[in-house]
Amino acid sequence: MVSTGQVLSPAEPEPTGSTSNDQSAPLLELRGVNKRFGAVQALRGVDLVVPGGQVTALAGDNGAGKSVLIKTIAGIHGADGGQVLWNGRAVHVRSPRDAAALGIETVYQDLALCDNLDIVQNMFLGRERTSSALLDEEAMETSARETLTSLSVTTVRSIRQPVASLSGGQRQAVAIAKSVLWNSKLVIMDEPTAALGVAQTAMVLDLVRRLADRGLAVMIVSHNMNDVFQVADRLAVLYLGRMVAAGPADQFDRQIVVDYMTTGESRRRRDDAGPVPPAGEVAR
Ligand SMILES: Nc1ncnc2c1ncn2[C@@H]1O[C@H](COP(=O)(O)OP(=O)(O)OP(=O)(O)O)[C@@H](O)[C@H]1O
Ligand SMILES: [Mg+2]
Repeated sequence: MVSTGQVLSPAEPEPTGSTSNDQSAPLLELRGVNKRFGAVQALRGVDLVVPGGQVTALAGDNGAGKSVLIKTIAGIHGADGGQVLWNGRAVHVRSPRDAAALGIETVYQDLALCDNLDIVQNMFLGRERTSSALLDEEAMETSARETLTSLSVTTVRSIRQPVASLSGGQRQAVAIAKSVLWNSKLVIMDEPTAALGVAQTAMVLDLVRRLADRGLAVMIVSHNMNDVFQVADRLAVLYLGRMVAAGPADQFDRQIVVDYMTTGESRRRRDDAGPVPPAGEVAR
């Protein structure tokens, strides 16, 4: 494992108002993050707060910049400008390896697992345990089984079955369990329920909730308003690369989110809630 000290250099002197490992700071904070691909400005000054112990849902229409944003956090794209703060400390995440060293794990819809390997092999891929230069299969099997059990993933027949034989929901569960096994602090999921049926969706959302209840920060990208309102503590809406609204989920309803997704603004307010905080001035 690469130490964070080697791969992550402070971007700048400490930002005003933040100190090293500031206890009150959110786990992850983006300030004014920009990303351009040639003529396309995919992210425009994006501010975002992602606290531990909460599920943050990222919504937005096709092409709004959701995948670019999570790939920027995951170290796949380098940001062109702005700041990324981790526990209040400015960091540069230049590669997926930097992100992993911080404790950021990303679960992509299709690329998460290797079909031809079994569950244990997938969970330890690239981080295999050895004992006297041999793979310690027993230890890996025990850890994999314990992690799945601790998350109440009980529908898998055998942890030695190839991942190709799992249902979509079980695949997501294995990918999520992998992030727990590796002590991730932030788990990002891009459309985790997009290809799932009703029962599998419920299982995955349950897992998402359990991760947050363990204190992890969870960020999910979703088009599905049912999922969003069922599981999210916080909501953030991107519109053409701009963060147009962000705040606690109870300050939104479906129509407000759809307004922001389709027009970048909303004149509606929830009757029983205060105004939706404008992006960048999110309550912590
Ligand atoms: N590697 C790339 N090179 C050039 N342009 C890109 C690249 N990746 C994304 N873009 C552009 O950035 C914008 C945002 O794309 P992104 O994939 O983040 O959208 P999204 O919100 O994830 O949409 P969807 O809901 O369809 O997945 C789009 O205009 C897209 O064409
Ligand atoms: Mg996308």
